Amino acid sequence: MKIVVKDDRQQFDHAAALEIVHLIHAKPHAVIGLATGNTPKGLYKVLGEMCKKKEVDFSEVITLNLDEYLGIDPDNPGSCRCYLQERFYDHVNTKQENTYYLNSHPHDYEKECKRYDQLIEDLGGIDLLILGIGHNGHLGFNEPSTPFGSTVHVCPLTDRTRTANIWSFGSKDKVPTEGITMGIKSIMNCKKLMMLANGEAKADIVHKALYDKITEKTPASILQLHNDVVIILDEDAARFI
Ligand code: GLP
Repeated sequence: MKIVVKDDRQQFDHAAALEIVHLIHAKPHAVIGLATGNTPKGLYKVLGEMCKKKEVDFSEVITLNLDEYLGIDPDNPGSCRCYLQERFYDHVNTKQENTYYLNSHPHDYEKECKRYDQLIEDLGGIDLLILGIGHNGHLGFNEPSTPFGSTVHVCPLTDRTRTANIWSFGSKDKVPTEGITMGIKSIMNCKKLMMLANGEAKADIVHKALYDKITEKTPASILQLHNDVVIILDEDAARFI
């Protein structure tokens, strides 16, 4: 496990962006999984700027989202799909046919999970997955006690996660109660993982995930077992490391 600690947010965003850029330089048609949340906002901004300056070319890159809220329209501004559209796709030269999403309003939940599992397989797996970490150690929407063997699945969101995501929806009653997410096994099957965390509020859980015991109660602790993972932190999130 490689742990990178950066002095400030700018360097943090830049270090994360460089991981993506180097991958794309080495493999222009890389398959990249995208997280949402507050943490990677700066990363997407830097990637947009670098693409504008032609320092990176996303034209062959394939992307797919890590997770999505359930039971909302795809054009709901709080959706992960809209987040990625506004913060990433509108600023880079990805091709629409190379971008994949989880459906936030599938008729059949189980079929949607199977479709996404199959899609990941058909794409030849994910070269790099961007991850944030929840305050309770969740990865994607894999809340504590999600089985480590889980593939794409539907999951109830904890009260804490819903509260943490009010910013996306405006008020708590609008935050969906369920999500759909790549499972822990889907995450561990990715060739490379990049987990990002910034801010003091993540310091405890980052320490727990990286140094405490590996348990389903702390989903991110599974990262200790992946053979190619880079953790990028700012100084605040790295406080106990
Ligand atoms: C959210 C998302 C995750 C995200 C995590 C951390 O609930 N489902 O994909 O990585 O929680 O979010 P944030 O970066 O806002 O702290």
